[in-house]
Amino acid sequence: MNKILVTGGAGFIGSHTCVELLNSGYDVVIMDNLCNSKEAAIGRIEKITGKKVKFYKADICDFDSCCKIFEENEIDSVIHFAGLKAVGESVRIPVEYYSNNITGTLELIKAMKKYGCKKIVFSSSATVYGMNNKAPYTEDMPTSATNPYGYTKVMIEQILRDICVSDDSFSAVALRYFNPIGAHSSGLIGEDPNGIPNNLVPYIAQVAIGKLECLSVYGDDYDTPDGTGVRDYIHVCDLARGHVDAVKYASEHTGFEAVNLGTGKGSSVLEVADAYGKACGKPIARKIAPRRAGDIATSFADASKAARLFNWQAKADINQMCADSWNFTKNNPDGIK
Ligand code: NAD
Ligand code: WQD
Repeated sequence: MNKILVTGGAGFIGSHTCVELLNSGYDVVIMDNLCNSKEAAIGRIEKITGKKVKFYKADICDFDSCCKIFEENEIDSVIHFAGLKAVGESVRIPVEYYSNNITGTLELIKAMKKYGCKKIVFSSSATVYGMNNKAPYTEDMPTSATNPYGYTKVMIEQILRDICVSDDSFSAVALRYFNPIGAHSSGLIGEDPNGIPNNLVPYIAQVAIGKLECLSVYGDDYDTPDGTGVRDYIHVCDLARGHVDAVKYASEHTGFEAVNLGTGKGSSVLEVADAYGKACGKPIARKIAPRRAGDIATSFADASKAARLFNWQAKADINQMCADSWNFTKNNPDGIK
């Protein structure tokens, strides 16, 4: 039995993971309310893989909808991406974030328990390392948060830990992603944010395609080699592969594990802008702006646990990530339609 329920499977990381799952021989059922994605992404997953996907347009906060999916499909494991993810928005509308991300996860888990599904891989984030740890981050460091979005990740990890304590046949893997960027090499799926992007690479992509004029570099006086923020960017296809490995691990082990998915290497804002300029054939216009509230200087993973547990390692470098992001952007200047 190899049927995986992918919540949030029409979104950026979810769609790439569905491709990787289908290519690895799994059956995929997607549950997504499309609040931050388009149904067209499902057709594109099918086009890339030549395989069919069962799609439910439904909300994880609705227990009956969750149950209907388990009733109609023999689900072996869940990969749980569905959630709201914009840090700034979470500060403005915290109730929506706690409700969607935490209530949604609890309703999903209640349905899993009702139908005896005991394996979950959860989208956590490097944001759980907070402001007080020093990179490289290891999974045993204390977790904390500085905004409601981050707290939802810290809390959901705790919920999963508690469930595994209460039921020793339950298996939960929280994957702590660093900074996912890039796109599938087909150029058919990629990141398609609504409005003006908050994150670095989606913003640069819009400068490259001519929709935005100039990148604001948030601070050049950090304690980093060139003064700009350093992050561990990871190709979304490497990340997707990590999920297939995590599902396999969850099927063979019980208990809770938190696992970093990153390259272990940091790149600065200026290095990313330069790599993107090379990929698209023209320099990315930039200006130095004040620091962004809540940002830290440096974040990168110690990725040795993923290597040890899953035999997983990131492959793509920053040039490849920018080339694939540009390929998607130029093929889809108005996003996925
Ligand atoms: P995304 O917004 O592209 O995908 C999330 C998907 O979940 C969307 O398709 C959205 O429509 C769906 N969704 C949201 N709430 C839902 C609900 N209540 N019911 C059903 N569907 C719902 O985001 P992404 O970048 O693919 O992120 C996926 C997950 O990974 C999220 O949980 C996010 O917090 C986490 N994550 C993302 C990043 C990143 O930088 N992209 C980093 C770390 C962690
Ligand atoms: C990267 C670097 C900015 C935009 C966020 C969330 C985190 C996770 C991933 C979900 C920083 C600089 C950015 C711009 C810039 N998401 N920057 N100009 O902040 O590392 O992480 O996304 O879990 O929780 O906080 O990513 O892409 O926003 O920023 O100079 O227009 O680029 O200051 O140094 P971040 P990011």
